[in-house]
Amino acid sequence: MIRFDKVTKTYNQIVAVKDVTLDIHKGEFISLVGQSGAGKSTLISLIIGEERPDSGRILIDDIDVSHIKRSSIPFLRRKIGVVFQDIKLLPKRTVFENISFAMEVSGDDNKTIKKEVPKILELVSLSERSGAFPHELSGGEKQRIAIARAMAHKPVLLLADEPTGNLDSINAWDIIQLLLKINKVGTTVILATHAKDLVNSIKKRVVTIEKGQIIYDQEKGKYVL
Ligand SMILES: Nc1ncnc2c1ncn2[C@@H]1O[C@H](COP(=O)(O)OP(=O)(O)O)[C@@H](O)[C@H]1O
Ligand SMILES: [Mg+2]
Repeated sequence: MIRFDKVTKTYNQIVAVKDVTLDIHKGEFISLVGQSGAGKSTLISLIIGEERPDSGRILIDDIDVSHIKRSSIPFLRRKIGVVFQDIKLLPKRTVFENISFAMEVSGDDNKTIKKEVPKILELVSLSERSGAFPHELSGGEKQRIAIARAMAHKPVLLLADEPTGNLDSINAWDIIQLLLKINKVGTTVILATHAKDLVNSIKKRVVTIEKGQIIYDQEKGKYVL
């Protein structure tokens, strides 16, 4: 589903990703781990076409995103949901509206929105908070809404970059459980994180990067750094 083929990315003189070759298969759950500055976020930016490699290719379902036209990026993004540590919900919109707005933007009609939003809220176990505003939610709830929003257009791939970075350990583990549930129903998930304990509890594939290079790639892996 995703293939990095000898990908190198530098920012000015700084090598962020160095000669990375990696295959991610449909349906996998991958934890991408490594210390701050290792290159995790850069790999995510390369997948969504936000950054381009200096050399090598990135294929997503045979689309070469490293050479994709800027005008084709919105089509690529329809396949992908993204969540970040820094959660940006619309402050003056309710939970329901935060999700429905994302669906409107991606071209869904009203009927679909009315039908799908409750299902997505159910998926993230927040049906009862549908009418709440972001400032009324806990950090964990906010992140679940951000995940709901990322899932609203039914992406085949969900990218989560340090999604638990601002959460306490209980909320963080809830988010991981939710990502696992999303993966179980068929979405490929890539979790970039430096949260060791979480990764060691997941027991799925772990890809460890250090200074832009893959140093371990293990099924049911551990975060060993
Ligand atoms: N936009 C940028 N401009 C310059 N350097 C950057 C930029 N983004 C990341 N870097 C550098 O690239 C390296 C990898 O960063 P990043 O991919 O953000 O790592 P991680 O997500 O693992 O913390 C770091 O040395 C970082 O300082
Ligand atoms: Mg990062």
